[in-house]
Formats: sequence, C-alpha cells, structure tokens
Amino acid sequence: MPESEYEVELFRKQGFTRQTCGKCGKAFWSLGHHETCGEAPCQEYDFIGSPPFKKKLTYRAMREDFLSFLEQNGHARVKRYPIVARWRDDVFFVQASVYPFQPWVISRQASPPANPLAISQPCVRFIDIDNVGKTGQHFTLFEMMAHHAFNFPDHPIYWKDHTVELCQLFLTERLGVDPAIVRYKESWWEGGGNSGPCLEVVFGGAEAATLVFMQNRDVNGHRVPMDTTVVDTGYGLERLTWLSQGTTSAYEAVFGDALAYLKRATGAKRVDDRVLRETRSAS
Ligand code: ALA
Repeated sequence: MPESEYEVELFRKQGFTRQTCGKCGKAFWSLGHHETCGEAPCQEYDFIGSPPFKKKLTYRAMREDFLSFLEQNGHARVKRYPIVARWRDDVFFVQASVYPFQPWVISRQASPPANPLAISQPCVRFIDIDNVGKTGQHFTLFEMMAHHAFNFPDHPIYWKDHTVELCQLFLTERLGVDPAIVRYKESWWEGGGNSGPCLEVVFGGAEAATLVFMQNRDVNGHRVPMDTTVVDTGYGLERLTWLSQGTTSAYEAVFGDALAYLKRATGAKRVDDRVLRETRSAS
C-alpha cells in the first residue's frame, strides 16, 4: 500500500522519505533530510549568489531547454494561446497553462492539439500585481511552462509516476540540481473549475514548479470525480531563470539586458546589491 496518495514510483525506487516541516507542519518528500519544507518563509532563499544549476540560462534558453527536453521525452510542442481567454465565459484572462484546455478539451467536446503536450503559456494574475517591483519576484505577466497529459478513459497517457519522473529528470539531469535538495511538498490545487492533489517542487527556498493531478470538477460547489484526469504541471519560467542566475532579484535575471541599458542611459553605474537584497526580503 502506498504511504500516501502522493507516494510515487520514483520515491519508492530511489528511497525518498516522507518528512514533516518543523515550521509549517506540511508533509514533503525528499532524498535528503531537511528541517523544513524548504519554502520561504520556512526557509530563506539560499540561491542568491550561488545558483543550484550547472549553468546560467537566459529566459529564452530556459524556455528552449524545457520544451526540447519534453520533446525528447515524447511530448509535442504546441504554440502559446492568447492571454485573453475568449473561449471561456467564466474568466477574462488566462491564469495558468491549463486554462486553454478548460473546459472543452477536458469535457471531450474538443480534441487536445496533441497528447501529451508541452507549452510555455503567457499568464496574468492580477492578485500578484501589487507586489510587482516590491518583492523582486512578482511580474505583471509571466510564462508558465508545462507538460499536460489528458487521460481519457479509453486512452490513458500517464499519471503521477511519470509526471514526477519527468520533473526530477529535468531538474537533476538537464539543469544539474543536486537531487538531495529537491523537496516535493504535498498540497492541493484548484483553478478554472478543476482540482486535485498536487506536489509543489521546492528548492533554494523557492517553489519552482507545481505538479497537479486534476481529478475533480466543480459542480455547484461540489467536487465530482472527472472521467478524464489531467496532468497539469506549471513550471515558472521567470522563477527558473532566476534560480539559474542567482541574481538579487528575478527582474535582473529576466530583464537583464533592459536593466543594463537603463543603468547606462541613466548613469546609474553602481548599484548596491546589499540594499536590493534587503529591500526584497523586507517586503
Ligand atoms: N495549474 C497549476 C498552477 O497554476 C500548475 O500552479
């Protein structure tokens, strides 16, 4: 019997253990032993100035690395969808990479453009906008990289085991993250009318990805099991680029060239990194 609905084949095979955060009490899985779940505020960022990846990647290179890794692993790359969710009447804007496929693909009224697929989808979350510029990590617009699999009852693709395996391979083999620092935190996600258990992928103090196993749809406030379950992952392109560069804020990692230009144009030759770090952590 699995120890919990979150235990996957990779955890059993590689000897991950289920641990509890000494601060927030949440359960997580890891190969290493850790006092906390690894996410701020339980743990401070520890990647600033010391990135956990084997190489620094630009925003474009990170996107390409992710999408090509998934192509090599049997996924078709699909084009991004508009940010205005004009195919839906319940939301105005796309807030996650799965929104383009809700509700029509999940209800089987439309076929997915490919299955499984990989995408990097521009998203907007107005709830974050007050933090833009203050926290050093929020954006007005961000890109959610993802692999999705639609498990139709007569045509299942893959579920939890392969999803976590792909994530761990991408992080450790492709990006070079030390497997012992990665934690998979047990949680729950809901959005756009669907919900399910999820694993939040945390290292360096930051949540880099969320792996959602959509299995319910919301019907008048009740959770009803779905016939088609959906692998709904979300990898933060800006977050991963920042982790790879270890700069004082995500803006320097993502808008590096524009910031360099602005510094030249305004004569701001020296910027005190210490002040930037303190401002970021104070918010
Ligand atoms: N849909 C999930 C999220 O937005 C992956 O975090």
